Amino acid sequence: MSTAVLFDRYGTVDELYAADLPVPSPGPGEVVVRYEAIGVNPVDWKILRGDLADRLPLPFPAGPGVEAAGTVVAVGPDVRGHREGDAVIRHGRPGTYRVHEAVSTLPEADELTPMPDRFSFEQAAVLPVAAGTAYSALRQVGLAAGERLLVHGASGGVGLATVQLAFLLGAAEVIGTASARHHDLLRSLGAQPVETAKGSTPDWPPSERRTPRWTVRAAPSRTPPRCAWSAIPPVG
Ligand SMILES: NC(=O)c1ccc[n+]([C@@H]2O[C@H](COP(=O)([O-])OP(=O)(O)OC[C@H]3O[C@@H](n4cnc5c(N)ncnc54)[C@H](OP(=O)(O)O)[C@@H]3O)[C@@H](O)[C@H]2O)c1
Repeated sequence: MSTAVLFDRYGTVDELYAADLPVPSPGPGEVVVRYEAIGVNPVDWKILRGDLADRLPLPFPAGPGVEAAGTVVAVGPDVRGHREGDAVIRHGRPGTYRVHEAVSTLPEADELTPMPDRFSFEQAAVLPVAAGTAYSALRQVGLAAGERLLVHGASGGVGLATVQLAFLLGAAEVIGTASARHHDLLRSLGAQPVETAKGSTPDWPPSERRTPRWTVRAAPSRTPPRCAWSAIPPVG
């Protein structure tokens, strides 16, 4: 048997339940993956609450979770390029809060990526959403070597990935807003932390203001920015 976390209608975490299910059999073009690690993201509760129902209508019962990493334990007919024992990263369609899943290997499904050897399952499972979003954001702003970047919400999953990828892309300086408890972590990555002003704009002397070339917002979008936009004005 296997286990999955499911919900039968949109709502709060009270809708979630654990279901015992048979281990799936792989259909044509599918493999069955046993997950070793599952990524947990803010989008999971947004999907559960129905915020994305217009764009992403779910057949019920549905499951939360859009990323995971694990091992291929069964291979269906007509599968090319995947073998039992392969380590893979699953991303995309909701439903990864489970132990076993039958996953399409068809290129158009774009659900599986081979897992690089150097990653643990835990590291690989959280790459698609946080690191994928960070990479995409930096590519969209077109950060170039030598530039200064402000990352709003730098201590979260997307923010931490943005800071690290920005340096890999050659950023000269990365300023990150975050709560004080996360400042040492940001310093350890080479970023300059700035206290998030909770509900107010701090008095930041004009002489100390730094103007970044680009800003990546990696903080929740429905809450007003708590950082001092006037203190560190974004221009890009
Ligand atoms: N559009 C997309 O494709 C996409 C993809 C991934 C994520 N997202 C969204 O991006 C946001 C961040 O995701 P995440 O996975 O990085 O979340 P996370 O790990 O929870 O990190 C969010 C960070 O934002 C900071 N924060 C929380 N409330 C804030 C506020 N009101 N003002 C300023 N900072 C605040 C927190 O830092 P401190 O505690 O240090 O203040 C926290 O570390 C979420 O809203 C998520 O849904 C969008």
